[in-house]
Amino acid sequence: MSPKDNAEEQRRQTNPLFNDRKLKLGTFCTNLSGGCTISSADGMLDADWESTSALAAMADAMEFEALVPVGRWKGFGGDTNFNGRGFECYTWAAGVAAQTKYSGVFSTSHVPTVHPVMAAKQGMTIDHISRGRFTLNIVTGWYEPEIEMFGAPLLEHDKRYDMAIEWLDIVKRLWMSEEEFNFDGEYYSVKNAKIGPHPVQAPHPAVMSAGASERGRHFAAKYADVGFTNLDSHEPDAMRARVDSFRKLARDEYGRDIQVWTNSYIFLGETEKEARELYDYVVFKNGDPVAATNLLNQLGLNSQSLPEDVLEMLKEHFMAGWGGFPLIGTSEMVVEGLQKLANAGFDGSLLSWPMYVDGMKEFQEKTYPMIVQAGLRN
Ligand SMILES: Cc1cc2nc3c(=O)[nH]c(=O)nc-3n(C[C@H](O)[C@H](O)[C@H](O)COP(=O)(O)O)c2cc1C
Repeated sequence: MSPKDNAEEQRRQTNPLFNDRKLKLGTFCTNLSGGCTISSADGMLDADWESTSALAAMADAMEFEALVPVGRWKGFGGDTNFNGRGFECYTWAAGVAAQTKYSGVFSTSHVPTVHPVMAAKQGMTIDHISRGRFTLNIVTGWYEPEIEMFGAPLLEHDKRYDMAIEWLDIVKRLWMSEEEFNFDGEYYSVKNAKIGPHPVQAPHPAVMSAGASERGRHFAAKYADVGFTNLDSHEPDAMRARVDSFRKLARDEYGRDIQVWTNSYIFLGETEKEARELYDYVVFKNGDPVAATNLLNQLGLNSQSLPEDVLEMLKEHFMAGWGGFPLIGTSEMVVEGLQKLANAGFDGSLLSWPMYVDGMKEFQEKTYPMIVQAGLRN
């Protein structure tokens, strides 16, 4: 058994992220106001523990593999100040870990806002609370105003990843080392460092990274267990090519197998017409294009970098659900869409609903049994 196989085998015993289900599922951004939907429609998620807790309980009952919070320190303005209120990710994960039994619990960590010794210790603690279900999602930061809240400038793009490599190296060594160690890098210097106890997962908790740039993809391919890719086409061949190219990068360049996930948004209706009307109400009638434009601008997606029609389409997708794969229609159509993702080779998808709590409840009652029946959750 290779070291990689061995690590996976050990972690499979406690972390559902490594189960054999054909399509793994998760929730995305249940810790922030608005969730994934940039709209002032009635019923949007607020940042209250009752809602976040209800969403975690439903996900756990459906045995979702990934509860992924978003690390956010400042909203995006507009009428909604999208994501402006919300819970910090490590403490959120600790609370959610204590109330769930099956689901994988993630914390999203901005590299420059948390010292790696603190990250390792907090991650280890959540791994114990969850009894081995913790995954660390590493993000390098891109929203300048929120990183500046911490009193330091946002580093130039590729330097953020240089810093993340040192950061993760220290975190992993703390999770695994029996001895104290020193680290003297360009960004971090630690002296006689060691933590105890070690995490439950051996050799260390799972790691996710969702960078979209070429440098981000390489970082995920080299260091993470789970990488993310978004889709610029919904044609089956193009979708498969997208997934394959990510896997190939990890395999060819770094000799590693990684999981490839994406994110999707669900607008469910009794009929397709009803689902389309919901979309119209949330996105076209009540969407917040100012907040969406601010967000895309910060990601470098603006009229200087993209043609106007592409930008408009992106804005719509972001208002609907953080630019994810659209699942709009009846339960049958949602199942078909998820089947399409599985056929393209995706290991999993995070999901979101515009009216998060009510939408997920309806999905749990009506759609989830059909997903099981379709064989996607065997
Ligand atoms: C599933 C997913 C979760 C993400 N979570 C966060 C987050 O919590 N905080 C954040 O600042 N960025 C988050 N991002 C953004 C990416 O990590 C990444 O920074 C962004 O796509 C820009 O890519 P780049 O850094 O490689 O240029 C997320 C992206 C995806 C697809």
